[in-house]
Amino acid sequence: MSGNKAVSRDDVLKALGTVQDPELHRDLVSLGMVEDVQIDGSTVSFAVVLTTPACPLKRQIEQAAREAVMSVPGVERVEIKISSRVKANRSKIKEGIPGVCHVVAVGSGKGGVGKSTVSVGIALALAESGARVGLLDADIWGPNIPQMLGVDEPPRAEDKKLIPAEGQGIKMISMDFFVNDQTPVIWRGPMVGKMVEQFLNDVDWGELDYLVVDLPPGTGDASLSLAQAIPLTGLVVVATPQGVALADAAKAIAMFQRLEVPILGIVENMSYFLCPHCDERTDIFGHGGAKEMSEELELPFLGEIPLDPVIRAGGDVGKPVLVIDPESSLSQAFRDIAGRLAGRISMEDLREESEERDEEGGLEFITSGGSQ
Ligand SMILES: Nc1ncnc2c1ncn2[C@@H]1O[C@H](COP(=O)(O)OP(=O)(O)OP(=O)(O)O)[C@@H](O)[C@H]1O
Ligand SMILES: [Mg+2]
Repeated sequence: MSGNKAVSRDDVLKALGTVQDPELHRDLVSLGMVEDVQIDGSTVSFAVVLTTPACPLKRQIEQAAREAVMSVPGVERVEIKISSRVKANRSKIKEGIPGVCHVVAVGSGKGGVGKSTVSVGIALALAESGARVGLLDADIWGPNIPQMLGVDEPPRAEDKKLIPAEGQGIKMISMDFFVNDQTPVIWRGPMVGKMVEQFLNDVDWGELDYLVVDLPPGTGDASLSLAQAIPLTGLVVVATPQGVALADAAKAIAMFQRLEVPILGIVENMSYFLCPHCDERTDIFGHGGAKEMSEELELPFLGEIPLDPVIRAGGDVGKPVLVIDPESSLSQAFRDIAGRLAGRISMEDLREESEERDEEGGLEFITSGGSQ
Protein backbone atom coordinates (compact mmCIF):
# COMPACT_ATOMS: atom_id res chain seq x y z
CA MET A 1 0.00 0.00 0.00
CA SER A 2 3.05 2.28 0.24
CA GLY A 3 2.41 3.78 -3.21
CA ASN A 4 -1.08 4.94 -2.19
CA LYS A 5 -1.83 8.41 -0.97
CA ALA A 6 -2.74 8.42 2.73
CA VAL A 7 -6.44 8.69 3.47
CA SER A 8 -7.29 12.18 4.72
CA ARG A 9 -10.06 13.42 6.95
CA ASP A 10 -11.24 15.65 4.12
CA ASP A 11 -11.65 12.65 1.80
CA VAL A 12 -13.76 10.91 4.43
CA LEU A 13 -15.95 13.96 5.06
CA LYS A 14 -16.34 14.54 1.34
CA ALA A 15 -17.56 10.97 0.90
CA LEU A 16 -19.93 11.26 3.85
CA GLY A 17 -21.13 14.56 2.43
CA THR A 18 -22.76 12.56 -0.38
CA VAL A 19 -24.82 10.45 2.04
CA GLN A 20 -28.29 11.82 2.58
CA ASP A 21 -30.44 11.27 5.63
CA PRO A 22 -33.42 9.81 3.76
CA GLU A 23 -35.89 11.57 6.01
CA LEU A 24 -34.29 14.95 6.54
CA HIS A 25 -33.13 15.18 2.91
CA ARG A 26 -29.76 16.62 3.79
CA ASP A 27 -26.34 15.07 4.00
CA LEU A 28 -24.88 13.69 7.20
CA VAL A 29 -22.00 16.18 7.32
CA SER A 30 -24.02 19.36 6.93
CA LEU A 31 -26.50 17.98 9.46
CA GLY A 32 -23.61 17.74 11.94
CA MET A 33 -24.18 14.02 12.42
CA VAL A 34 -20.60 12.90 11.79
CA GLU A 35 -18.28 13.00 14.77
CA ASP A 36 -14.99 11.62 15.96
CA VAL A 37 -13.43 10.76 12.58
CA GLN A 38 -10.24 8.76 13.11
CA ILE A 39 -7.93 7.40 10.49
CA ASP A 40 -5.47 4.65 11.21
CA GLY A 41 -3.74 3.59 7.99
CA SER A 42 -6.46 2.06 5.86
CA THR A 43 -8.97 1.87 8.70
CA VAL A 44 -11.45 4.70 9.14
CA SER A 45 -13.70 4.98 12.16
CA PHE A 46 -16.32 7.60 12.96
CA ALA A 47 -19.55 8.11 14.85
CA VAL A 48 -22.91 8.89 13.28
CA VAL A 49 -25.04 10.75 15.80
CA LEU A 50 -28.69 10.48 14.81
CA THR A 51 -31.31 13.01 15.86
CA THR A 52 -33.38 10.32 17.59
CA PRO A 53 -32.83 6.81 18.91
CA ALA A 54 -36.18 5.91 17.36
CA CYS A 55 -34.83 6.46 13.84
CA PRO A 56 -36.29 3.65 11.72
CA LEU A 57 -33.65 4.21 9.04
CA LYS A 58 -30.63 3.54 11.27
CA ARG A 59 -29.37 0.51 9.34
CA GLN A 60 -29.97 2.15 5.97
CA ILE A 61 -27.96 5.22 6.99
CA GLU A 62 -25.18 3.08 8.44
CA GLN A 63 -24.90 1.05 5.26
CA ALA A 64 -24.88 4.09 2.99
CA ALA A 65 -22.18 5.72 5.15
CA ARG A 66 -20.11 2.55 5.08
CA GLU A 67 -20.35 2.20 1.31
CA ALA A 68 -19.45 5.86 0.77
CA VAL A 69 -16.32 5.69 2.92
CA MET A 70 -15.29 2.29 1.55
CA SER A 71 -15.23 3.89 -1.90
CA VAL A 72 -12.50 6.36 -0.81
CA PRO A 73 -9.21 5.15 -2.34
CA GLY A 74 -6.97 3.56 0.29
CA VAL A 75 -9.77 2.66 2.74
CA GLU A 76 -10.04 -1.03 3.54
CA ARG A 77 -11.97 -1.06 6.78
CA VAL A 78 -14.76 1.13 8.13
CA GLU A 79 -15.93 1.13 11.73
CA ILE A 80 -19.09 3.06 12.54
CA LYS A 81 -20.52 3.80 15.92
CA ILE A 82 -24.21 4.70 15.72
CA SER A 83 -25.60 6.76 18.56
CA SER A 84 -28.20 9.48 18.97
CA ARG A 85 -28.74 12.79 20.64
CA VAL A 86 -32.16 14.39 20.69
CA LYS A 87 -31.77 18.13 20.38
CA ALA A 88 -33.97 20.51 22.26
CA ASN A 89 -36.18 22.87 20.39
CA ARG A 90 -34.02 25.94 20.96
CA SER A 91 -36.62 28.66 20.96
CA LYS A 92 -39.07 26.60 22.99
CA ILE A 93 -36.65 25.43 25.65
CA LYS A 94 -36.34 29.01 26.93
CA GLU A 95 -39.91 29.17 28.09
CA GLY A 96 -40.33 25.41 28.29
CA ILE A 97 -40.13 22.71 30.88
CA PRO A 98 -36.61 22.51 32.32
CA GLY A 99 -34.72 19.45 31.03
CA VAL A 100 -37.39 18.48 28.49
CA CYS A 101 -36.34 18.53 24.82
CA HIS A 102 -39.69 18.01 23.13
CA VAL A 103 -43.28 18.20 24.25
CA VAL A 104 -45.56 16.28 21.90
CA ALA A 105 -49.30 16.57 22.43
CA VAL A 106 -51.73 13.87 21.36
CA GLY A 107 -55.19 15.21 20.59
CA SER A 108 -58.40 14.29 18.85
CA GLY A 109 -61.61 15.95 17.82
CA LYS A 110 -63.78 13.30 19.41
CA GLY A 111 -63.53 11.38 22.67
CA GLY A 112 -63.04 7.64 22.74
CA VAL A 113 -61.04 7.38 19.52
CA GLY A 114 -57.98 5.92 21.24
CA LYS A 115 -56.00 9.03 22.16
CA SER A 116 -54.78 7.57 25.43
CA THR A 117 -54.02 4.20 23.85
CA VAL A 118 -51.94 5.93 21.18
CA SER A 119 -50.21 8.18 23.75
CA VAL A 120 -49.16 5.14 25.78
CA GLY A 121 -48.10 3.21 22.66
CA ILE A 122 -45.98 6.06 21.30
CA ALA A 123 -44.39 6.68 24.70
CA LEU A 124 -43.50 3.01 25.17
CA ALA A 125 -42.13 2.62 21.65
CA LEU A 126 -39.94 5.72 22.02
CA ALA A 127 -38.68 4.50 25.40
CA GLU A 128 -37.96 1.07 23.98
CA SER A 129 -35.74 2.64 21.32
CA GLY A 130 -33.62 4.16 24.10
CA ALA A 131 -35.18 7.62 24.41
CA ARG A 132 -35.93 9.19 27.79
CA VAL A 133 -39.68 9.56 27.88
CA GLY A 134 -42.32 11.13 30.07
CA LEU A 135 -46.09 10.95 29.79
CA LEU A 136 -48.41 13.68 31.02
CA ASP A 137 -52.04 12.66 31.29
CA ALA A 138 -53.68 16.06 30.95
CA ASP A 139 -57.15 14.74 30.22
CA ILE A 140 -59.13 16.38 33.01
CA TRP A 141 -62.37 14.72 31.97
CA GLY A 142 -61.23 11.13 31.98
CA PRO A 143 -57.64 10.65 33.02
CA ASN A 144 -56.86 6.95 32.68
CA ILE A 145 -53.17 6.66 31.86
CA PRO A 146 -52.23 5.22 35.30
CA GLN A 147 -54.67 2.39 34.67
CA MET A 148 -53.46 1.83 31.11
CA LEU A 149 -49.81 1.81 32.11
CA GLY A 150 -50.46 -0.20 35.26
CA VAL A 151 -49.21 2.45 37.68
CA ASP A 152 -50.87 2.90 41.06
CA GLU A 153 -48.05 4.60 42.99
CA PRO A 154 -48.79 8.35 42.96
CA PRO A 155 -46.00 10.88 42.45
CA ARG A 156 -43.95 11.88 45.52
CA ALA A 157 -43.05 15.34 46.77
CA GLU A 158 -39.39 16.05 47.37
CA ASP A 159 -37.86 19.46 48.16
CA LYS A 160 -41.06 21.18 47.07
CA LYS A 161 -40.91 19.38 43.73
CA LEU A 162 -43.19 16.67 42.48
CA ILE A 163 -41.32 13.53 41.40
CA PRO A 164 -43.29 11.74 38.64
CA ALA A 165 -44.56 8.21 39.13
CA GLU A 166 -42.90 5.59 36.97
CA GLY A 167 -44.22 2.67 34.93
CA GLN A 168 -42.58 0.51 32.22
CA GLY A 169 -39.59 2.86 32.16
CA ILE A 170 -41.73 5.95 31.60
CA LYS A 171 -42.11 8.90 33.96
CA MET A 172 -45.73 9.79 34.39
CA ILE A 173 -47.96 12.43 35.92
CA SER A 174 -51.71 12.16 35.63
CA MET A 175 -54.65 14.39 36.40
CA ASP A 176 -56.04 11.22 37.93
CA PHE A 177 -53.75 11.81 40.93
CA PHE A 178 -55.28 15.23 41.51
CA VAL A 179 -58.93 15.01 40.56
CA ASN A 180 -61.23 12.26 41.73
CA ASP A 181 -64.73 11.11 40.97
CA GLN A 182 -66.04 13.61 43.50
CA THR A 183 -64.37 16.60 41.85
CA PRO A 184 -67.27 18.56 40.37
CA VAL A 185 -67.03 18.73 36.61
CA ILE A 186 -67.53 22.49 36.75
CA TRP A 187 -64.23 22.91 38.69
CA ARG A 188 -62.20 20.94 36.25
CA GLY A 189 -61.96 23.49 33.44
CA PRO A 190 -60.63 26.31 35.67
CA MET A 191 -58.19 23.87 37.32
CA VAL A 192 -56.34 23.36 34.07
CA GLY A 193 -54.49 26.67 34.15
CA LYS A 194 -53.21 26.06 37.67
CA MET A 195 -52.24 22.49 36.86
CA VAL A 196 -50.32 23.45 33.74
CA GLU A 197 -48.37 25.96 35.78
CA GLN A 198 -47.49 23.20 38.21
CA PHE A 199 -46.46 20.80 35.47
CA LEU A 200 -44.17 23.49 34.11
CA ASN A 201 -42.68 24.68 37.36
CA ASP A 202 -43.14 22.15 40.10
CA VAL A 203 -42.58 18.76 38.49
CA ASP A 204 -39.03 17.48 38.38
CA TRP A 205 -39.06 15.54 35.09
CA GLY A 206 -35.28 15.16 35.05
CA GLU A 207 -33.80 14.96 31.56
CA LEU A 208 -36.34 13.90 28.94
CA ASP A 209 -36.04 13.55 25.17
CA TYR A 210 -39.80 13.43 24.70
CA LEU A 211 -42.73 14.34 26.92
CA VAL A 212 -45.96 12.96 25.45
CA VAL A 213 -49.09 14.84 26.56
CA ASP A 214 -52.48 13.13 26.38
CA LEU A 215 -54.79 16.14 25.87
CA PRO A 216 -58.47 16.29 26.75
CA PRO A 217 -60.60 15.46 23.70
CA GLY A 218 -62.02 18.14 21.48
CA THR A 219 -61.40 21.79 20.99
CA GLY A 220 -62.78 23.04 24.30
CA ASP A 221 -61.24 25.58 26.65
CA ALA A 222 -59.16 22.96 28.40
CA SER A 223 -57.30 21.86 25.24
CA LEU A 224 -56.93 25.45 24.22
CA SER A 225 -55.36 26.67 27.43
CA LEU A 226 -53.09 23.63 27.59
CA ALA A 227 -51.89 24.15 24.05
CA GLN A 228 -51.20 27.79 24.76
CA ALA A 229 -49.50 27.27 28.10
CA ILE A 230 -47.16 24.40 27.25
CA PRO A 231 -44.57 25.12 24.58
CA LEU A 232 -45.38 22.27 22.20
CA THR A 233 -43.08 20.87 19.54
CA GLY A 234 -46.27 19.78 17.84
CA LEU A 235 -49.46 17.80 17.82
CA VAL A 236 -50.31 14.23 16.85
CA VAL A 237 -53.95 13.84 15.85
CA VAL A 238 -55.76 10.56 16.42
CA ALA A 239 -58.85 9.79 14.36
CA THR A 240 -60.95 6.76 13.58
CA PRO A 241 -61.94 6.23 9.96
CA GLN A 242 -65.62 7.16 10.19
CA GLY A 243 -66.75 10.45 8.71
CA VAL A 244 -67.88 12.06 11.98
CA ALA A 245 -64.58 11.41 13.72
CA LEU A 246 -62.72 12.76 10.71
CA ALA A 247 -64.79 15.94 10.57
CA ASP A 248 -64.09 16.50 14.28
CA ALA A 249 -60.40 15.79 13.77
CA ALA A 250 -60.30 18.37 10.99
CA LYS A 251 -61.81 20.94 13.40
CA ALA A 252 -59.15 20.14 16.02
CA ILE A 253 -56.42 20.46 13.41
CA ALA A 254 -57.73 23.85 12.31
CA MET A 255 -57.77 25.09 15.90
CA PHE A 256 -54.21 24.00 16.63
CA GLN A 257 -53.02 25.47 13.36
CA ARG A 258 -54.54 28.80 14.37
CA LEU A 259 -52.52 28.56 17.59
CA GLU A 260 -49.45 27.95 15.41
CA VAL A 261 -48.88 24.50 16.84
CA PRO A 262 -47.20 22.40 14.12
CA ILE A 263 -49.22 19.29 13.21
CA LEU A 264 -46.72 16.42 13.35
CA GLY A 265 -49.10 13.94 11.78
CA ILE A 266 -52.29 11.93 11.85
CA VAL A 267 -52.79 8.41 13.22
CA GLU A 268 -55.73 6.28 12.12
CA ASN A 269 -56.90 4.09 15.00
CA MET A 270 -59.36 1.19 14.85
CA SER A 271 -58.45 1.15 11.22
CA TYR A 272 -59.61 -2.40 10.41
CA PHE A 273 -60.33 -5.68 12.16
CA LEU A 274 -58.30 -8.79 11.48
CA CYS A 275 -60.31 -11.88 12.42
CA PRO A 276 -58.19 -13.96 14.81
CA HIS A 277 -59.78 -17.16 13.46
CA CYS A 278 -59.69 -16.75 9.72
CA ASP A 279 -57.36 -13.75 9.28
CA GLU A 280 -60.01 -12.02 7.21
CA ARG A 281 -59.87 -8.27 7.31
CA THR A 282 -63.03 -6.23 7.95
CA ASP A 283 -63.16 -2.44 7.69
CA ILE A 284 -65.65 -1.85 10.49
CA PHE A 285 -65.59 1.95 10.40
CA GLY A 286 -64.46 2.18 6.80
CA HIS A 287 -60.78 2.40 6.15
CA GLY A 288 -58.16 4.85 5.02
CA GLY A 289 -60.20 7.99 5.76
CA ALA A 290 -57.51 9.51 7.95
CA LYS A 291 -54.90 8.87 5.30
CA GLU A 292 -57.04 10.60 2.69
CA MET A 293 -57.60 13.48 5.07
CA SER A 294 -53.87 13.83 5.67
CA GLU A 295 -53.33 13.99 1.91
CA GLU A 296 -56.06 16.59 1.50
CA LEU A 297 -54.69 18.75 4.29
CA GLU A 298 -51.10 18.06 3.23
CA LEU A 299 -50.20 16.70 6.62
CA PRO A 300 -48.01 13.68 7.37
CA PHE A 301 -49.76 10.34 7.87
CA LEU A 302 -48.02 8.51 10.71
CA GLY A 303 -49.70 5.12 10.37
CA GLU A 304 -52.67 2.99 11.29
CA ILE A 305 -53.58 0.70 14.17
CA PRO A 306 -56.13 -2.09 13.71
CA LEU A 307 -59.05 -2.69 16.00
CA ASP A 308 -57.90 -5.57 18.18
CA PRO A 309 -59.30 -6.98 21.44
CA VAL A 310 -55.73 -7.35 22.77
CA ILE A 311 -55.40 -3.57 22.78
CA ARG A 312 -58.59 -3.04 24.75
CA ALA A 313 -57.93 -5.87 27.20
CA GLY A 314 -54.32 -4.75 27.73
CA GLY A 315 -55.45 -1.16 28.33
CA ASP A 316 -57.95 -2.24 30.96
CA VAL A 317 -55.46 -4.16 33.06
CA GLY A 318 -52.37 -1.99 32.64
CA LYS A 319 -50.63 -4.35 30.23
CA PRO A 320 -50.09 -2.50 26.96
CA VAL A 321 -49.49 -4.70 23.93
CA LEU A 322 -45.89 -3.47 23.59
CA VAL A 323 -45.22 -4.93 27.03
CA ILE A 324 -47.12 -8.22 26.83
CA ASP A 325 -46.49 -9.03 23.19
CA PRO A 326 -43.56 -7.01 21.86
CA GLU A 327 -43.06 -9.29 18.84
CA SER A 328 -46.62 -8.88 17.53
CA SER A 329 -47.54 -6.92 14.44
CA LEU A 330 -49.65 -4.68 16.69
CA SER A 331 -46.55 -3.66 18.65
CA GLN A 332 -44.74 -3.09 15.39
CA ALA A 333 -47.56 -0.77 14.27
CA PHE A 334 -46.93 1.44 17.32
CA ARG A 335 -43.17 1.32 16.71
CA ASP A 336 -43.60 2.40 13.09
CA ILE A 337 -45.76 5.32 14.17
CA ALA A 338 -43.29 6.38 16.87
CA GLY A 339 -40.39 6.14 14.41
CA ARG A 340 -42.16 8.32 11.85
CA LEU A 341 -43.13 10.77 14.57
CA ALA A 342 -39.54 11.03 15.82
CA GLY A 343 -38.49 11.72 12.23
CA ARG A 344 -41.06 14.49 11.91
CA ILE A 345 -39.81 16.05 15.15
CA SER A 346 -36.25 16.06 13.83
CA MET A 347 -37.54 17.78 10.69
CA GLU A 348 -39.38 20.38 12.75
CA ASP A 349 -36.08 21.09 14.52
CA LEU A 350 -34.28 21.55 11.24
CA ARG A 351 -36.98 23.88 9.98
CA GLU A 352 -36.79 25.95 13.15
CA GLU A 353 -33.04 26.04 13.09
CA SER A 354 -32.94 27.30 9.54
CA GLU A 355 -35.64 29.89 10.31
CA GLU A 356 -33.59 31.06 13.28
CA ARG A 357 -30.48 31.21 11.14
CA ASP A 358 -32.35 33.33 8.60
CA GLU A 359 -33.50 35.64 11.36
CA GLU A 360 -30.01 35.89 12.83
CA GLY A 361 -28.65 36.51 9.33
CA GLY A 362 -31.19 39.27 8.91
CA LEU A 363 -30.16 40.88 12.18
CA GLU A 364 -26.50 40.78 11.23
CA PHE A 365 -27.31 42.53 8.02
CA ILE A 366 -29.18 45.27 9.82
CA THR A 367 -26.37 45.69 12.37
CA SER A 368 -23.68 45.99 9.74
CA GLY A 369 -25.91 48.31 7.74
CA GLY A 370 -26.50 50.48 10.83
CA SER A 371 -22.83 50.79 11.73
CA GLN A 372 -21.79 52.16 8.37
N1 LIG B 1 -57.08 -0.16 18.24
C1 LIG B 1 -57.87 -0.53 19.23
N2 LIG B 1 -58.39 -1.77 19.29
C2 LIG B 1 -59.23 -2.14 20.31
N3 LIG B 1 -59.57 -1.35 21.31
C3 LIG B 1 -59.08 -0.10 21.31
C4 LIG B 1 -58.20 0.38 20.29
N4 LIG B 1 -57.87 1.67 20.57
C5 LIG B 1 -58.50 1.97 21.72
N5 LIG B 1 -59.23 0.93 22.16
C6 LIG B 1 -60.09 0.88 23.35
O1 LIG B 1 -61.11 1.85 23.18
C7 LIG B 1 -61.36 2.53 24.40
C8 LIG B 1 -61.10 4.03 24.21
O2 LIG B 1 -59.72 4.21 23.97
P1 LIG B 1 -58.91 5.37 24.69
O3 LIG B 1 -59.24 5.45 26.12
O4 LIG B 1 -57.48 5.22 24.30
O5 LIG B 1 -59.54 6.59 23.90
P2 LIG B 1 -59.49 8.13 24.23
O6 LIG B 1 -59.61 8.84 22.92
O7 LIG B 1 -58.35 8.45 25.08
O8 LIG B 1 -60.82 8.28 25.04
P3 LIG B 1 -61.28 9.49 26.01
O9 LIG B 1 -61.85 10.53 25.10
O10 LIG B 1 -62.31 8.85 26.88
O11 LIG B 1 -60.08 9.95 26.73
C9 LIG B 1 -60.47 1.88 25.43
O12 LIG B 1 -61.18 0.87 26.08
C10 LIG B 1 -59.35 1.27 24.61
O13 LIG B 1 -58.76 0.15 25.21
MG1 LIG C 1 -58.24 9.22 27.06
